Amino acid sequence: MKTYRIAVIAGDGVGPEVIAEAVKVLKTAAEIDGRFAFSFTDFPWGCGYYLKTGKMMPDNGLEILKDFDAILLGAVGAPGVPDHISLRGLLLKIRRGFDQYINLRPVRLLEGAPCPLKDVKREDINMTFIRENSEGEYSGTGAWLYKDQPEEVVIQNGVFSRKGCERVIRYAYELAKKEGRTLTSISKANALNYSMVFWDQIFAEVGKDYPEVKTGSCLVDAASMFMVKDPGRFQVVVTSNLFGDILTDLGAAIAGGIGLAAGANLNPERKYPSMFEPIHGSAPDIAGKGIANPLASIWTAAQMLNFFGYPEWESRILSCMEQLLSEGRHLTPDLKGSASTSGCADALIRLIIEKKAQR
Ligand code: NAD
Ligand code: IPM
Ligand code: MN
Repeated sequence: MKTYRIAVIAGDGVGPEVIAEAVKVLKTAAEIDGRFAFSFTDFPWGCGYYLKTGKMMPDNGLEILKDFDAILLGAVGAPGVPDHISLRGLLLKIRRGFDQYINLRPVRLLEGAPCPLKDVKREDINMTFIRENSEGEYSGTGAWLYKDQPEEVVIQNGVFSRKGCERVIRYAYELAKKEGRTLTSISKANALNYSMVFWDQIFAEVGKDYPEVKTGSCLVDAASMFMVKDPGRFQVVVTSNLFGDILTDLGAAIAGGIGLAAGANLNPERKYPSMFEPIHGSAPDIAGKGIANPLASIWTAAQMLNFFGYPEWESRILSCMEQLLSEGRHLTPDLKGSASTSGCADALIRLIIEKKAQR
């Protein structure tokens, strides 16, 4: 039996509340399946740790994490610690340090999940966002000149390397080819005359190796309009770091809400551990109340099982989630229910166990 070593960084705000439930689901899957087990190691890193030590994680944090099979992360960020310090000191450091250059975010309207769009068929909201996750607008390079003086200037660089663009675009083509779906690149070459012209050029170049993949290209402003007016036009989507960040929150809004939105930070070569996290943040407005929706974190745990080679487990968890959403009796307040975080997850776990009994 294979035992997967999971580093758990529950983080701040609702992070620990939702991650506890994802861990329960992983344990349930392991017990039912029998082929695999998990050993979880908790790391108390985050804003609380920062306030005590002056660091978001120890200096050798990546060294500590590198031999784990995966990282499960809740959320990072708390009032009292500037976001650029907390996020750059932990989440972004791990994404970058472990070359997790693929951020795979499903925007899929599950059966039973609410959708604010009128006249849209459920199956029309089924996209896989491949967000560049290692460079681009998030390069973290720039300068702050003449601070606090009248001539003050700030420069925030976007860094788009050939290697960085090619690998994420190739990954997206491979996925579209494997799944027989269309691929849309989202960029903005009309205004960003270096980075996005380059991006479009590489999208076309890599595309020569995939004549069978039907492609489209869309400007990011129009893409955000079409995601609302005609989401069915998008299947696999590849885009830059910042555009992907913004569009997947929009994606969450049309696919059941932020409490349902999952994502995986992947190092496809498996040289380093990949990291699984919901796309929402630490939700300070509801933290500590026990009402955060655990389903996004549970979905990301399901993505982890898929990444480990058990795609049937992702399907099984998602189908139970659809049953839970359709029944509607054990949902958290963001989904108009009155269940607690653990009440919702426990109901899902019961469905997972029942499904096993029916097999
Ligand atoms: P947020 O995602 O934390 O919250 C936005 C809204 O969604 C809030 O109203 C919140 O209550 C709601 N929400 C979020 N998750 C929910 C859940 N599981 N169930 C029910 N409702 C949920 O975004 P924000 O308010 O912009 O950011 C708060 C903090 O989180 C900031 O410090 C930000 O930098 C950080 N952040 C961290 C991550 C991450 O760690 N991956 C992601 C986004 C934001
Ligand atoms: C996300 C978050 C992060 C991002 C922040 C917290 C740095 O918004 O994972 O979507 O922008 O990548
Ligand atoms: Mn985001």
